[in-house]
Amino acid sequence: MAERENTDPQKMEKIVSLCKSKGFIYQSAELYGGLNGCWDYGPLGAELKRNLKDYWWRKNVQERDDILGMDGSILTHHAVLTASGHVGGFSDPMCDCLLSKARLRADQIDPQSGTAYHYTGASHAESGFSVEKPFSVLIDPTANQNENNARKVAKQYYAQFLNGQDVPAKKLELAGESTTEEVDTTKYNPENGSLLTEAREFNLMFQTKMGASSDDNDPNAVAYLRPETAQTIFVQYKNVLDSSRVKLPFGIAQIGKAFRNEINPRNFTFRSREFEQMEIEFFCRPEDGLRLTEEWLETRLSFYEEIGVPREKLHVLDVPDGERAHYSAKTYDIEYEFPFGIQELEGVAYRGAYDLTKHQEHSGKNIEYFDEETKERFIPHVVEPSAGCDRTVLAVLCESYDVEDLTKEGAKKKDERTVMRFKPCIAPIKAAILPLLKNKPELVAKAKEVQHLLQPFMNVFYDETAAIGRRYRRQDEIGTPFCIAIDFETLGEEGPNGEDLTDTVTVRHRDSMEQERIAISDLLPWLLERLR
Ligand code: GAP
Repeated sequence: MAERENTDPQKMEKIVSLCKSKGFIYQSAELYGGLNGCWDYGPLGAELKRNLKDYWWRKNVQERDDILGMDGSILTHHAVLTASGHVGGFSDPMCDCLLSKARLRADQIDPQSGTAYHYTGASHAESGFSVEKPFSVLIDPTANQNENNARKVAKQYYAQFLNGQDVPAKKLELAGESTTEEVDTTKYNPENGSLLTEAREFNLMFQTKMGASSDDNDPNAVAYLRPETAQTIFVQYKNVLDSSRVKLPFGIAQIGKAFRNEINPRNFTFRSREFEQMEIEFFCRPEDGLRLTEEWLETRLSFYEEIGVPREKLHVLDVPDGERAHYSAKTYDIEYEFPFGIQELEGVAYRGAYDLTKHQEHSGKNIEYFDEETKERFIPHVVEPSAGCDRTVLAVLCESYDVEDLTKEGAKKKDERTVMRFKPCIAPIKAAILPLLKNKPELVAKAKEVQHLLQPFMNVFYDETAAIGRRYRRQDEIGTPFCIAIDFETLGEEGPNGEDLTDTVTVRHRDSMEQERIAISDLLPWLLERLR
């Protein structure tokens, strides 16, 4: 089992590079230097993500009688997010490096020990420059650092106040040097030793203004880009209930964009500022909440297996008291062994009656459930399986990536095959259609016939360039599970044992590289059965 800190940065680099070169994921606005924390899905990435969302929707909405779908607005009323607690409390502690101005998450700084050098200011006699401001630098004597390292950093810091005066930082005189020994402190930037500002709470929501309000400070014009899809579900729960006449337990599912102004977006798409969630709010009687939380955990673990993320790479964290939201009696995090460590994919949280109660209080409207059998009125409890779509795509990409050594014994040249082993149900391209030669019109016509036969039912790709072996490898790299070759036997030439293979094609399997002969008339049902 992988350790939480056991990482493979080289593998991650290769995956990021393949994502760009093959058209899965690009940095947003790369042409202009990139928009930090935002990503664009290219042609193959868009297919992969769409297939994942369709599969999730089919399994959680269409194949269940007790879950209904919805698609809410992204722009969210400020009152909704005030009631939910996001306006007041959806924040991370943040601090700034006094030297580099980098912004860091205060709760993610690794504790450090060492000698802190403190100064009261700096001056330069010749120019008359002087500044009085306390500043400190932490140095690590065990890493061969000494007072000279501290002084260099301090001079760089004070040089910021020169206001254009042409004085080199190293010519500054430091004032009031003193030292203290620090143990497990988080007050210094691990990158450069500079003192950080005190931590401040930083709200993660993106705020915007609705309409052309005459008053810039009109609080009623404020709206937010939703930080989670969940709140739209809570706010529409009563409408869904009344319009669909469902009975408890039932769920409302939604897939959609969410936005968080993350302080440190990182690990490719893992922590982004714009991302998609796949959330279910499952409403139930209070006495069923804990049992359903356990059931949902199992259901969600099975889902990941179905899309190709094996159980042994998933970890279930039973979030301890004190780390859960105060209203949650139980929360599980489903984590995956990413190449950058074991990290959360999805939360399965028992949220009790918290959200609906808050919306009832703040809106002043009664949103209780009426049980016709028992004649009781009450606020339902909620179990919430909340998955990140982009994180799941990333887990699938990491899990599918494989480099296979096919070098034959005694061969001088190494033969490596990169293969994305996507499950057929989510693979971006389901089948590649390959006429053996492009300069034989009969082969091309037959291949186009096969393409048109399959196209209405699945995403296929027609390719007639390069040798067939090379075309197979290109499809392996983008994870196409089946390659269909149209050859001279398809057109009526005798097979190797004199058999009639007219109107049959060769299907090559991506993972085993084995080939089999299938009649064109059987091809569609044969493929559909394997793509479910
Ligand atoms: N409604 C509950 C909720 O939003 P969350 O744990 O904050 O809970 C749920 O988010 C899931 O959304 C996470 O497990 C993760 O998969 C995804 N997610 C959250 N923040 C994200 C981010 N900045 N970038 C990508 N995915 C994110």
